[in-house]
Amino acid sequence: MRDRRTKDDKGESNVSKLIIQGAGPLKGRVRVSGAKNSVLPIIAASLLADGRSVIEEVPYLNDVKIMCELVDSLGASTEFSDDRTRLEISSRSLLNTTAPYELVNRMRASFLIAGPLLARCGHVKISLPGGCAIGSRPVDLHLKGFAALGGSITQGHGYIEISSSGCLKGGKVYLDFPSVGATENTMMAAVLAEGHTIIENAAIEPEVVDLATYLTSMGADIKGAGTDTIKINGVKELHPANHTIIPDRIEAGTFMVAAAITGGDITIENVVPDHLKPVTAKLREAGVEISEELTSVRVRGNRISPVDIKTHPYPGFPTDMQSQITSLLSVACGTSVVIETIFENRFMHVCELKRMGANIKVEGRSAIIEGCSRLTGAKVKATDLRAGAALILAGLCAEGATEILDVEHVDRGYYRIDEKLKSLGAVISRADGD
Ligand code: UD1
Repeated sequence: MRDRRTKDDKGESNVSKLIIQGAGPLKGRVRVSGAKNSVLPIIAASLLADGRSVIEEVPYLNDVKIMCELVDSLGASTEFSDDRTRLEISSRSLLNTTAPYELVNRMRASFLIAGPLLARCGHVKISLPGGCAIGSRPVDLHLKGFAALGGSITQGHGYIEISSSGCLKGGKVYLDFPSVGATENTMMAAVLAEGHTIIENAAIEPEVVDLATYLTSMGADIKGAGTDTIKINGVKELHPANHTIIPDRIEAGTFMVAAAITGGDITIENVVPDHLKPVTAKLREAGVEISEELTSVRVRGNRISPVDIKTHPYPGFPTDMQSQITSLLSVACGTSVVIETIFENRFMHVCELKRMGANIKVEGRSAIIEGCSRLTGAKVKATDLRAGAALILAGLCAEGATEILDVEHVDRGYYRIDEKLKSLGAVISRADGD
């Protein structure tokens, strides 16, 4: 990746501690960046074309940099514009179809290069992703998709190798669960397959639709993205395209909770209000005032009422907002129950929130939260991306100082979150970790 760094590089390096003073209501306007979960598959999809694609509204995140390193290692080349919101990807000649452990291990979404490589080169060898902080996260459904297209799969020494003799052939695949990654990988493999592919019980997340829009602008023939049945007619080749990434609904949701938890008044710009529906509905139920414009939402915090929440695939309440809402419900006036149905181990933030005075009991996949009037600042650790976001939110409303260690997890998914919060009146600073 050629990356013309500027001096203004704070907030994106390996410094790993945030210090927050709980300081009252946040107020003002904040702009959300492009969606991390859209840009990662879209960078991978660029490998399908022979030429130079241009992606706009790219969030300059650590995960994005890892994906760029990965596609570079395969023979493509990536280059950011000076302001780092525009990414050019040249994928004329791919030289390598092996994705090494060292890169795949750093980010699970690396597995998304499997579909494009298999489709374009007829072969991919990729390190089997391990478990991660939030669960075991298998890839069996991705492999089911590749097998349905005629990919032959072998596994050994920590790697999965998939190959096809000649072109992949269109096929029918039913996903046992509407996995986002498996839907995206199968779709990317199928666009160059010979014939017709049907993906049933497909994920319908906005990021799946954004990927389909990009692939279509590259010349793919895809129908039904955003419904549970996606139909793809394979084409002979794809061409490079320009694409603008949709706004990050999870970053937007996190700022919505920031307004709610501090009793603030924040207008969040560059959003698609429709994508925020489940979060908006639950926050309104909790007593938060939300008004929607075409591309912005204004969120005003009030006294928080308890609510029960169950995570579900889109358009249900997103698992990626579960930790943040748990922080909010910790200061609600009453008892809430949060049930996590997507990942088996996504309550790591609870132990840390308890150190800040939250009263939460986890029983299996449920967290029972007895709201309290005030959290107290403490030294806590971000165990994963959204857990880190939850601790930042808790710190914003806690009494005294909160120190959040291992903040590099947060930098994987939030572009300059400390700068953005500061612009809303938060008292937050960064320092080297202990
Ligand atoms: C994506 C998002 C992540 C989000 C998740 C669920 C990206 C880069 N990441 O992750 O932020 O939390 O969707 O909305 O887009 N599963 C299997 N077998 C598989 C694949 C998945 O059993 O082959 C299971 C997983 O273990 C999990 C569930 O399906 O329990 C959902 O996973 P999935 O939708 O695939 O999530 P990701 O695509 O990994």
